[in-house]
Amino acid sequence: MIKKRVFSGIQPSGTVHIGNYIGALRNWALMQKDHDCLYCIVDLHAITVPQDPKDLRERILFTTATTLAAGIDPQQSILFVQSDVPEHAELAWLLNCVVYYGELTRMTQFKDKSTVRGEGTSAGLFTYPVLMAADILLYGAQAVPVGDDQRQHLELTRLIARRLEKDLPDWVVVPNAFIEKKGARVMGLDDPMAKMSKSAPSEYNYISLDDAPDLIRKKIRKAVTDSGTTIEFDEEKRPAVANLLTIYSSLTDRPVEEIVQQYAGKGYGDFKKDLAEVVVEGLAPIQKRIREFVSDPAQLQRILTEGAEKAGAIARPRMAAIKKGLGLGRP
Ligand code: TYM
Repeated sequence: MIKKRVFSGIQPSGTVHIGNYIGALRNWALMQKDHDCLYCIVDLHAITVPQDPKDLRERILFTTATTLAAGIDPQQSILFVQSDVPEHAELAWLLNCVVYYGELTRMTQFKDKSTVRGEGTSAGLFTYPVLMAADILLYGAQAVPVGDDQRQHLELTRLIARRLEKDLPDWVVVPNAFIEKKGARVMGLDDPMAKMSKSAPSEYNYISLDDAPDLIRKKIRKAVTDSGTTIEFDEEKRPAVANLLTIYSSLTDRPVEEIVQQYAGKGYGDFKKDLAEVVVEGLAPIQKRIREFVSDPAQLQRILTEGAEKAGAIARPRMAAIKKGLGLGRP
């Protein structure tokens, strides 16, 4: 039986937070058994905003360690760094010539990020979603496990794929986003109206997978709650508590309703105290593995070298085929 191909990526931003874990990495790990998975540390996406080269290099290794610690098994999946396979950038150029300017101007993440940088916004930030489309289409991936914030980028990828399909029906695979209902948008602990984000101004916005237990407890203690007092799940009226319940439920694999019942008649204090322990305990085995991987950089290098070779072996013939299909290169 041919397994479905899966592709997904994560930026090497150093901090991998529980939003990344609940919204994406956990599903990456779960999909490994029944799918043919490629997981990518997207360093080319990272340089769409200024980076310090030495930091970037360290963060690539740390993000690799964290991804492995979150359950990605290099025996089952291909784990690699994007720039190690030059076909990603090459395909992105071809797709730049397929997508329309107007389509890119409608990307909400670009609108948000470019307001911060104004005139100093890189052209790479504008074409960021095209590189994402290249990542996915290069391997003919059928499913892309991501959080809800990537939904629009996946829609654009599908649009590009369908446009190309007219000329290249045998090459193109139109991918599907795989977005879980629960946990696809973990919100900031200090602001339940915006998604949890590593670029948030305060570190009290997120819990990083490598936060020390006491810091986790402090962050949850300080997390904002709504004006009510009861523990109820209502994303519209009580978004802060709903978010904390989602985290609780995701990390314990227990239904939200069961947790709500457990806290009937109890206040925020009890609930937050228990949630802190749920997070501390849930992250403990991951943290232990992060430390193990970080202490062995040679092993990380080996995993990434092997990953790049395996990914390259798929990418090269696919790239050659699309070039030929588009009439490029020496006749
Ligand atoms: P990145 O590095 O921002 O995030 C990695 C994954 O985590 C998900 N995520 C969240 N899920 C739930 N709640 C949150 N608060 C939250 N924040 C982040 C993201 O949706 C993502 O799945 N552009 C992508 C990386 C990428 C990619 C790709 C993904 C590059 N090429 C091809 C899929 C396919 C990004 O910046 O993810």
